[in-house]
Amino acid sequence: MNKENIQRSLESRKIDHSINILEPGELSPKHTASAMIDLLQSVYSKHAISNNKKQVITDIEDGRLVTWLAKKDDKFVATASLIAQAGDSVEIGRAVSNTKGVGGVLMDLAVLHHLHTSSKPLIAEVRLADEFKGIPGSEATQHICFDKFELNPHAVAPFFEHGNRPRRESFVLSRSDIKRLSSISGVVHETISGRSFGGNESRLLMTQKEPFQVVQDSNDGMQIEDFWKKNNMLNNPTFTLFPIEAIDQNMALIGQLLQNPRCVICGLDSNLGKSGKPIILLGHVGLDTKIAPSKVSANLPILMKRDIQTIADKFTSLGNQNLDRFGEWPNGSWIDRKGVIWTDQS
Ligand SMILES: CC(C)(COP(=O)(O)OP(=O)(O)OC[C@H]1O[C@@H](n2cnc3c(N)ncnc32)[C@H](O)[C@@H]1OP(=O)(O)O)[C@@H](O)C(=O)NCCC(=O)NCCS
Repeated sequence: MNKENIQRSLESRKIDHSINILEPGELSPKHTASAMIDLLQSVYSKHAISNNKKQVITDIEDGRLVTWLAKKDDKFVATASLIAQAGDSVEIGRAVSNTKGVGGVLMDLAVLHHLHTSSKPLIAEVRLADEFKGIPGSEATQHICFDKFELNPHAVAPFFEHGNRPRRESFVLSRSDIKRLSSISGVVHETISGRSFGGNESRLLMTQKEPFQVVQDSNDGMQIEDFWKKNNMLNNPTFTLFPIEAIDQNMALIGQLLQNPRCVICGLDSNLGKSGKPIILLGHVGLDTKIAPSKVSANLPILMKRDIQTIADKFTSLGNQNLDRFGEWPNGSWIDRKGVIWTDQS
């Protein structure tokens, strides 16, 4: 991550005089939270944090959330934030702009502030969605995070839900303190190739339900078949992440998950597991999971670009499957289980 490049990019911008940039702390936490949530909603219709304004205010008060805003003609037009993470990193995110040329400035200001005040790694959940049903595409954020901030991808999956009629979008987990892998799948394959998948499968325990399910190996968990039935995994309309440390005792479980046609290798966790081995990330989507199409547009090395696109496309084609009698994903119409017909215009 090159501070000077970001500084130069910021200085080269010509910001309209009618734009007023509000630094963190210029507004009260309550006003900051309202402006941020309104802006996120104006772009996404529904955003995970919209329902939790109290928490947003507390996070601002406690300094975990540091927010930049921009106003034009007394209306808020853009926002971007730094969000302290439970580990040792800081996220750049919650960025939206409905006025071209402003969002990028706020993201640059936030990242420069981070680089001047902290030595912690920077992370981002970079959107991959193509423009779809009124929600803008992710070309700008991909360019900013991968080409300009030089963040390095380590996992891809349909983690979060947006939209009036909610559907998941794929995101790329990226960070500043890892080297740029040649491809995500390649590194996962290197980690598991030549290993024995024999033995008893570890048990599974659900450790998170929202905004996506997280299921881990645990002695307190259930056998894989019982877990699948109890949680109706085949039809479950959500996304489930399986972070499994690649230790010998877990290889039978990893083998079982890999054999499931609805499970996709989606990357590596940025931390090693308790035994010091890599944690492999596998993702599962149910037949009823709605997933928006993705388009990798950043200027990433070609192998990495293709790999990210392939992983995201696998998820998109595995989701939306109960619709196959009618649906022509991504361009046509489709019908959901309740009989509602969706079209690109609806
Ligand atoms: C991401 C977002 C906040 C950026 O704000 P913006 O006002 O559109 O961005 P800017 O016009 O300031 O452009 C920022 C950079 O992106 C580039 N960019 C803008 N639109 C682009 C496009 N369609 N394709 C490629 N690059 C693009 C600009 O050239 C600029 O590059 P530079 O910094 O190298 O000069 C805004 O596009 C947005 O709200 N997107 C939808 C929501 C989203 O994806 N948010 C990110 C989640 S963290």
